[in-house]
Amino acid sequence: MADDGRSGPGGRWDGLTETGAGTPMGELLRRYWWPIAGASELDLPGTRPVRLLGEDLVLYKDLGGRFGLLDRHCRHRRADLSYGYVETSGLRCNYHGWLYDSDGSCLAQPYEDIAHPEARLRDEVRLKAYPVTELGGLIWAYLGPEPRPLVPDWEFFSWTNGFRQIVKAEIPCNWLQCQENSIDPVHFEWTHSNWSVRLGGATGPYAPRHVKVDFSEFDYGFQYKRIRTDTDRDDRLWTIGRVCLWPNALFVGGHVEFRVPIDDENTLSIAWHFSRVPREREPYVQQSIPTWQGPITDPNTGRWITSHVMNQDFVTWVGQGRIADRTREYLGPSDRGIVMVRRRFLDDLDAIREGRDPKAVIRDPAINRAIPLPVADRESVIAGYPRADIVKDALSRRGLRGYIFQTGQPEAVREAFLAAMGFTESELGPDDQHFDPLAPAR
Ligand code: FES
Ligand SMILES: [Fe+2]
Repeated sequence: MADDGRSGPGGRWDGLTETGAGTPMGELLRRYWWPIAGASELDLPGTRPVRLLGEDLVLYKDLGGRFGLLDRHCRHRRADLSYGYVETSGLRCNYHGWLYDSDGSCLAQPYEDIAHPEARLRDEVRLKAYPVTELGGLIWAYLGPEPRPLVPDWEFFSWTNGFRQIVKAEIPCNWLQCQENSIDPVHFEWTHSNWSVRLGGATGPYAPRHVKVDFSEFDYGFQYKRIRTDTDRDDRLWTIGRVCLWPNALFVGGHVEFRVPIDDENTLSIAWHFSRVPREREPYVQQSIPTWQGPITDPNTGRWITSHVMNQDFVTWVGQGRIADRTREYLGPSDRGIVMVRRRFLDDLDAIREGRDPKAVIRDPAINRAIPLPVADRESVIAGYPRADIVKDALSRRGLRGYIFQTGQPEAVREAFLAAMGFTESELGPDDQHFDPLAPAR
C-alpha cells in the first residue's frame, strides 16, 4: 500500500492501539460514550465491577434507582467498592462506611462525622466519578472532558415490535483489531461461509466469490460494499452495503456489535440484537432486554469455540495476537477500508490536538433523534412478515431454531424469544450446526 507519510520507528500505525488515559489514542477514545453493560444486569440495585479504557471502576444502581460509575477503590484506604452496598442515594464502602454520591462527592464518613464533625473532612474528599446513562437497554459511560457530547441515538434503538437481546463476551486482545473486522467484507466468505462448510465436515461447495469491494465514508462511519459472483451492481450489498459505525461498531441491520476496550489487551464485545416478531404478534412490547455473556473457549479442549458466527470472528481476532503487530502485516487491495479507518483515527488525533471534535461526536439534540443509518435489508429487518411467510423461508426458519451469532444463550432467553415470536421448539425442528447462516444474506 502507498505510504501515507506517517512512517516512523515502529511503523506508521504506531500508537493506534493505545487506550490508556494520557495516550493520544486513549484521549481520542475518551471523546465517545461507550456501552459497558446491559441495563437488565442491574435490574435490582447493586454493584458491578467494570474495567474500561484501562480504568478500574464500579458501576452501581442505588436504592433510589440512580446509576453511578465510580473509581473501583475507596478514597479512604482503597477498599474495593464493588463489594460496597448501595443506599437510597449513593454507594457505601464496606470497610468503614464512607458513602459516595454519583458525582464522586463524599456524603458521609460515619466515624469522622460523629467524632470530629467540625473537621468536615468529607468536604475535601472526592472520588473519581464518570457520567453514565441508559439508552437502548444499554448502560453507557463517558470518561472524557466536558462538555460531554450526547449518547448517539441510533435509529435501531427506536425500532418497534422486536425481541431484543444483549450478548457479551470478553475477548483477550486489543479492541482495534476487533473493530477492523467491521470494515472487512471478504472475511465473510472465508471465516463464516467456507469455514462453516469445512467445520460441518464437507469440503464444498464453497460460497460465491467476492469479485469487487468498495469503501466509502459518511458522517457516522464507513460503508463497505461487495459484488460476488452471484450478485451484480443492483444488489443492495453493493448499492448500500454494511456499516462500520464510528468509532466502535459493526452494524449489519439486525444487529450491531460494539467493540469496547477493557484495556490495551482485552475487549468487551457487546452485541445488540433485534428480532422482528411476526405480524400476528403485534403489538409486541418488550419490558426488559435480557443480557447474557457467552463463553469463547471450549473447556474440553482449551481451544476457541468455532460453532457460531461471532465466535468465528473471535478466533480470527485473538489469532492476530494480543495486540496485532501492524509492522508485520502485508495489506492487500481488500484492506483499503482498514487503511481508511486508521487514517481517520490519525486525522482525528490532529483534530483533538487542535481543539476540534473528532468524527461522529454528536452535540445537537435536534440531530440526535433516531439517527438514520444505511440498512441494506431494511424491510426484512424491521417491516415484519406474516407467520406463514416466515415458516416458508429457510433462512428465517434457521434464525428461529437457535441463536446463530454466539454460543451459550441461556434457556430462559431462548424461551422468552420463542414466546415473543409465537413459536414452539417442536414446530421448528432441530438446530443444525455449521449451517452457513450468512450465505443467502451475505
Ligand atoms: S476504605 Fe473505604 S471507608 Fe475505609
Ligand atoms: Fe465476521
